[in-house]
Amino acid sequence: MADKAWGGVFSEATDARVEAFTESVSFDRRLYAHDITASVAHAQMLTSVGLITNDECRQIEQALSNIRQEIEQGDFPFRTELEDIHMHIEHALIERLGDVGRKLHTARSRNDQVSTDLRLWVRDAIDTIDARLVDLQRAFVERCTADEGVILPAYTHMQRAQPVLANHYWLAYCEKFERDRGRLAGARTRANVLSLGAAAVAGTSLPIDRHDVAGRLGFEDVAANSIDVSSDRDFVVEFAFVLAMIAEHLSTWAEEWVLWSTAEFDFLKLPQPFCTGSSIMPQKVNPDVLELTRGKSARVIGNLTSLLVLIKGLPLAYNRDLQEDKERLFDSYDTVKACLELAAPLVAGTELKREQIAARLDRGHLDATTLMEYLISRGMPQRTAHHATGELVRKALDRGVRLADLPLEDFKAADKSLDKSVFEVLGPEHAVAAFVSYGSTGHEQVAAQVARWKKQLGS
Ligand code: ARG
Repeated sequence: MADKAWGGVFSEATDARVEAFTESVSFDRRLYAHDITASVAHAQMLTSVGLITNDECRQIEQALSNIRQEIEQGDFPFRTELEDIHMHIEHALIERLGDVGRKLHTARSRNDQVSTDLRLWVRDAIDTIDARLVDLQRAFVERCTADEGVILPAYTHMQRAQPVLANHYWLAYCEKFERDRGRLAGARTRANVLSLGAAAVAGTSLPIDRHDVAGRLGFEDVAANSIDVSSDRDFVVEFAFVLAMIAEHLSTWAEEWVLWSTAEFDFLKLPQPFCTGSSIMPQKVNPDVLELTRGKSARVIGNLTSLLVLIKGLPLAYNRDLQEDKERLFDSYDTVKACLELAAPLVAGTELKREQIAARLDRGHLDATTLMEYLISRGMPQRTAHHATGELVRKALDRGVRLADLPLEDFKAADKSLDKSVFEVLGPEHAVAAFVSYGSTGHEQVAAQVARWKKQLGS
C-alpha cells in the first residue's frame, strides 16, 4: 500500500477489480492543467501564511511545471492504481521532491480539490461555448446582407401562416442563442466561487487564507460554508442545463433545415462538403450533419437527466457518487461544442433557393391576415373582419386562385366601401411591407434589428 496516498490504515492491498472500478484518471486526466494551476495558487498561499517556505514553493512550482509539460508531451505515465488525476500529479511531485512534495496537500482534501479543478474547467468551458455561440450568431447575421428582401413563408402548426423576411428567421435564432449566452453568464458567476480550503468537509485548523487563493485564481467569491461547497455540484448541473438548452435550439434549427432542404420544401441548397451520400442510392445528398445535430441533442438532454438524478437525495457532504459527474459533463460539452463548430460554417455556406421559394410563395393565402387587418384599419370589428376574410379565402380556395385573383365585386360584397386599393395589401410582398409593429417582420423593423445585431457582433 506504499504507493497509495491513503494507504496508512490499510494492511491489505486493494483488489485489482476495485482499482479498475473506482479509477477516474481515464477521464479526469483532462483536468490536469486546472489541477496544476490550483495547486500552484495553493502552494503560493501556503507560503504567504508561512506553512511552507519560499524555496519549497519554488521547487513545487518548478516540478509542477515539468509535470505539466510531460503530460502535454504524452510522456507522463498514467496508472489505474493511482486512481485519479489529483493522485497522479501529487505522486509525481513526491517522486521528484520527496518531503517537499508531501507538503503540497497541506490543508487540502481531494474533495475541495476536485471541486476547485472542476470550477476552473467549467469557467473555461463556458467561455469557449460562449465564443462558439457568437461565431454562429455571426454566421446568421452575415447572411442578412445577401438575403435582404427574400420572403419566406412562416409556419404555425407546420401550416403556411404569414410571409416573413428570411432575415427575420435568421435573427430568430440569434435571439435564442443570445438567451443561452445570458444563461452561460449566470452559470459562470455561480461557478466562479472558490471551494478550496473547505478541505474534506469541515475546513481546517491550519491558518490558511482562502481569499488569497481566490484572488490568485480569479474567483469572484469564496464559498462561505465548507459542508455545502465540498459537495456542491449545482454549477455542473447548471452548465449541463445551459448546454441542453443550446442543444434544444440547435435541434430546432437542424430539423427546420432538414425539412427546408427536401424536394418538397426546396428552400435550401446545403453546402456539399457538409452533406454525405448513400451507399446504394447514387442520387442522394443527405443532410447528415443536421440530422446528427438533431440526434445528438438526445445525449445532451440525457446527460442533464443523469446529473440531476446523481445528486438527488445525496446526503451531505462529499460522496464518491460525485465522481460520476465528469463524464456526463465532458460529453455534453464536447457534443455541443462540436455541433456549434459545424453549425456556423453550415449556416454560412447554405444558399437560399430564391426562385423556387418565390414561385410557390402565393400558396397558402399568406396575405389573409394582412387583408383582415386592412379591414380592421377601415373600422370593421376584428371578429367581423376575420369572418369576412375567411369567406374570401373560401371563395379563392373553391376557385383554386389567390386572394389577389378575386374580382373587386367579391371584396365589395365583404365591405361595400372597398375599392381597388384593397389589392395593394394583397400578395406576399405587399403583406410583408404592411408590418409595422416592433419586433415584426416589416422591412424597417428587420433592418433595424439587423443593424443592431451587426453592431453588437461587430460584423
Ligand atoms: N476522483 C474523485 C472525484 O472525481 C476525487 C475526489 C475523491 N475524494 C475522495 N475522498 N475519495 O470525485
